[in-house]
Amino acid sequence: MPDIENLTKHYGEKTVLSVDRLAVEKGETLAVTGPNGSGKSTLLKILSGLTKADSGTANGFGKILSIPQASYAFSMSVEKNVLYAMSGDKKTERAETILKRLGLYELKNQNAKKLSGGEAQRLALARLLVNECDTLVLDEPTGAVDIDGADCVWRAIEEYRKDSGCTVIFSTHSPVEAGKHADRILLLHNGLVTEDAKPSDFFKEQKSDWGKKFIAQFSVSGD
Ligand SMILES: Nc1ncnc2c1ncn2[C@@H]1O[C@H](COP(=O)(O)OP(=O)(O)OP(=O)(O)O)[C@@H](O)[C@H]1O
Ligand SMILES: [Mg+2]
Repeated sequence: MPDIENLTKHYGEKTVLSVDRLAVEKGETLAVTGPNGSGKSTLLKILSGLTKADSGTANGFGKILSIPQASYAFSMSVEKNVLYAMSGDKKTERAETILKRLGLYELKNQNAKKLSGGEAQRLALARLLVNECDTLVLDEPTGAVDIDGADCVWRAIEEYRKDSGCTVIFSTHSPVEAGKHADRILLLHNGLVTEDAKPSDFFKEQKSDWGKKFIAQFSVSGD
């Protein structure tokens, strides 16, 4: 089972992440939510190997594919960006499928450097989802996309998860989005996990005072 133990990260005197123990179910979709600066990206970057933790371990996540919060694109066509990330047979057909799924097919011949922020973010996801993995780590996968774009993104992630049985860990500053798409939600505050619950419980009752205050800002219920 994938798990994390005693994971910490400091910048100077400041502790930006401190997670004692976190066991993740294989195949589960885990949302990491919390306000700006709470440590979401730090946790996801450590999991995906982009940042080194000061202490602790993260084991059992298998092959991880990740996208950072700020997406990038290579200066070549949208279609070539996807083909470039692929191996195996029937590349063109598979690229076409994922580009259609993410609403990018009409843009396939455009240079990817000219995409809008939301389009570039969907392209980064397209490049990821043409490969296999055990764990998807997605830092704010809908951060730059509009409502229709977010629907595409979530449909593509859900299809991929169903086909592969992979674990999905994503961050979002929106607890509403977390509740809609995750089996389980972690709430971070100053690098600490203050809530860890399935969505219905997360919105119904919070264990920490800070969690109560945070959720009170959102008019959502677990019903
Ligand atoms: N390279 C760095 N050097 C110094 N401080 C950093 C560095 N990276 C992150 N931090 C600090 O660590 C804290 C957590 O940052 P992190 O990016 O994990 O937050 P976040 O929850 O992802 O926020 P956001 O919602 O804005 O994406 C912040 O206070 C940030 O300023
Ligand atoms: Mg972040």
